[in-house]
Amino acid sequence: MMITFIALSLLGSLSSTKAQTTVTYSSSPNLAIPGSGTSGSVSDSIFVDASFEICDVDISVDITHTWTSDLELDLTMDGPDPTTDPVDVIRLQYDDCGSSDDLVVTFDDSATESLNGASSSNNLCNQDGLEVQPEEALSTFNGHQSIGYWTLDINDDAGGDTGTLNSWSIILTSCETITDGAGTGDPHFKSWAGKWFDFHGECDLVFVDSPKFGHGTGLAIHIRTKARYQYSYIESAAVQIGDSVLEVGEYGSYMLDGISNADLDSEKLDRYTVIHKKINSKQDVFTIELGEGKKIVIQSFKDLVSVKTVGASKEEYRGSQGLLGEFGTGKLLSRNGTIMTDPDAFGNEWQVLETEPKLFQTARFPQHPVQCSMPGPERDGRRRLGESTISMEAAEEACEHWGDLKDQCVYDVMAAEDLELAEAGAF
Ligand SMILES: *[C@@H]1O[C@H](CO)[C@@H](O)[C@H](O)[C@H]1NC(C)=O
Repeated sequence: MMITFIALSLLGSLSSTKAQTTVTYSSSPNLAIPGSGTSGSVSDSIFVDASFEICDVDISVDITHTWTSDLELDLTMDGPDPTTDPVDVIRLQYDDCGSSDDLVVTFDDSATESLNGASSSNNLCNQDGLEVQPEEALSTFNGHQSIGYWTLDINDDAGGDTGTLNSWSIILTSCETITDGAGTGDPHFKSWAGKWFDFHGECDLVFVDSPKFGHGTGLAIHIRTKARYQYSYIESAAVQIGDSVLEVGEYGSYMLDGISNADLDSEKLDRYTVIHKKINSKQDVFTIELGEGKKIVIQSFKDLVSVKTVGASKEEYRGSQGLLGEFGTGKLLSRNGTIMTDPDAFGNEWQVLETEPKLFQTARFPQHPVQCSMPGPERDGRRRLGESTISMEAAEEACEHWGDLKDQCVYDVMAAEDLELAEAGAF
């Protein structure tokens, strides 16, 4: 029988941030466009370094020109490897705009305006920011990966008039619906797909390992689980960014790069700010600010620790491995990439290996190759809940306001042996 204690509700606000991210890449080449027929072609490339599935592309251009209908614009997308990746091309505009000066528009499939029929009299071509339909659909790129070289080709097919490509931008929207991951005190884990599962082994575990974080700086989070009576919980968590490590344990105790109570106002985790808030004598919150509202939040309530990500995106976690599963899909993958279905086997798979970096300052039994200690029959089930110093009745009363999550709350309160936990999750 599987142990069925529900998540430690310390993270009462376990949010699932669904993020369809939009990113903009721009170039301002101030590139001269000579007006001399076929040899009047110029091009400018932008390298998009983020990799995600594209759900929408818009292109804005700012071109100065003395006769806009001389121009043809094409957009080419070539993957990160120019020798092997297929190339897609679409035509953005072809000889539109008549004798208008300049072309300052955003090409967007969903625009209502079109440049067909645009002229110097209706002024469609140079109203800053006007959204117009491209000649061929930008949705050609939908479903492709974003990473690679995007090139704007401009051909001026008439002599006489000339111009300048001042700037242009690619506005990319990703398709992913991503939830945040979490590991809470009991411990229960919420994968990147928002699916909960339990693992009650006692050992050090790879919560997430994301070598591509920060353009190769790397981010790893390990957790250390502990069994106590019929419960198990996360007793400490260590976050490594680059060579820097923040370790958080019971009652808000912490070490930064091995130094207890390091001054977090002046010391950083790699280049990231850590904010420590002592809520009260039992509860502490550490927030690692990753920028743009993205965070890793570690909390302690007495001796129980929880970890969650906030606003996770592919920028931080693409290609990551560990207990949170495969980023984007949340599939629970083994180290060799096979799908795993048994939570016990999956948890054991992500025990920190002998060959992996040790993020915790001190080693604690068991360490690989000794396997995680799994709960025996005496920890199996709820019958030993009676050993809690908190009665079921008292827990139920304290958790009354939790609604659907009341059962979670009751077991968490009994596990922590503290009625105040019923309030801690509600902030
Ligand atoms: C992949 O990993 C799983 C889980 O550890 C293991 O059962 C399986 O044998 C491995 N497969 C290969 C080909 O190594």
